[in-house]
Amino acid sequence: MLILGVESSCDETAAAVVADGRAVLSDVVASQIAVHRPYGGVVPELASRKHVEAVLPVIQTAMDQAGLGLDELDAVAATQGPGLIGALLVGLSAAKAIAYAAGKPMVAVNHLEGHMAAAFLEAQPPERAWVCLVVSGGHTALYRVQPDGRGECLGTTLDDAAGEAFDKVSKVLGLGYPGGAAIDLLARSGDPRAHRFPRSYLEKNSLDFSFSGLKTAVAYFVKKSGVPAAGAPGGSLEDLAAAFQEAVVDVLVMKTLAAAARCGVRDLAVVGGVAANSRLRERFELAAASDHLRLHLPPLRYCTDNAAMIAAAGYQSWRRNGFCRDPLNLDARSRWL
Ligand code: KG4
Ligand code: ZN
Repeated sequence: MLILGVESSCDETAAAVVADGRAVLSDVVASQIAVHRPYGGVVPELASRKHVEAVLPVIQTAMDQAGLGLDELDAVAATQGPGLIGALLVGLSAAKAIAYAAGKPMVAVNHLEGHMAAAFLEAQPPERAWVCLVVSGGHTALYRVQPDGRGECLGTTLDDAAGEAFDKVSKVLGLGYPGGAAIDLLARSGDPRAHRFPRSYLEKNSLDFSFSGLKTAVAYFVKKSGVPAAGAPGGSLEDLAAAFQEAVVDVLVMKTLAAAARCGVRDLAVVGGVAANSRLRERFELAAASDHLRLHLPPLRYCTDNAAMIAAAGYQSWRRNGFCRDPLNLDARSRWL
C-alpha cells in the first residue's frame, strides 16, 4: 500500500511516500526555522503563509523522489491535529484536494499517533506492545502502544511540555529559537552537577509530568545571578545548560522505565523532537542496557516533525478501520489528545 503523508501542524511543511507503513520511498521537509528565528518562536500567521507557499512544491518533490504519479497511490494521509489551526488547515486542505482530484481515500492522522509511528520506520520495529515516550515541543506523554499502532495514554504533562521548557530556558539564556538543539550542544561541555535544579515527580506512582517548576527555577537563577558567561570557571553557561537538561532527562527516563515496568513490556520507544537530544538518547541507552529492555530510538529526522511518520500512522489507522476512507468535510483540530 502506497501512502502519501502530509504534515503542517507547526513550522515544518513535509510530505513523504511510505509503502506498507514501513518503507520510506521519499521524505521531504521544508523547515521554517529561519522565518521564525528573529521572533524567538513560531509566529502562527507567518507559519500558515509559509505552508501555503511550500505545500505543493514539497508534495510534488516527494512524489517525484518516490518516482510515482498520483494514480499509483493507495491513499493520502494528513495531520488533522493537534497543532496551530491555520497551519494544520493548509496541509489538510491540500491533502483533501489531492485525494478528491485523484479519487483516492483520505486518512486523517493524529500528530501524536504520527510521532508514535516513527517506531515503525525502524529496521526492527517492536513486535509486541511497547511503551512510547512522546516528547516534543507541544507534548510530553507516555503511551502503551499496540502492534497495530493504537496508543493508550498512561500519563501526560500537567503544564509545559519538555520541549517547551527547553525553548523557554533557551530564551532566558539568550540562546534563541529553536532552543532544544542549542542547549543540547552547549550542555555537552558543561557539568550537570554544577547546579541542583528541582525534579518534579508528582505524587507516588504518577506517570504525569510537570516542567514549569524547573523552568521557573532556571529563570529565578538567571534573575538573581544573571546569565553566566560561556566558559566561566565554576558555573558557566554550559554548566547551567547541562544542569537544566539533566533535570529534564532524569524525570523522562525514570517515568518511562516505571511505565515499562508497570505495563510489563520489554520494548521502549522514545519519539518527538526532544528525542533528538543527545543526553536523553545516551541515558536511555544506558538504562535500557541495564534493565535488559529493547530501545527504539528513531533516527533524528524521524524524531522532529516529518511526514514519513504521518504516512506510517495513516497506514496503521486506515488498516485498523478496515480501509474505510475519512469524509472530505472533516476539519482541522487544534486540540486533540
Ligand atoms: O516534534 P517537534 O519537531 O515538534 C512538535 O511536535 O512540537 O519538536 C520540537 C521540539 C522543540 O521544542 C525543540 O526545542 C525540541 O523539539 N528539540 C530538542 C532537540 N531538538 C529539537 N530538544 C532537546 N534537544 C534537542 N537536540
Ligand atoms: Zn511534532
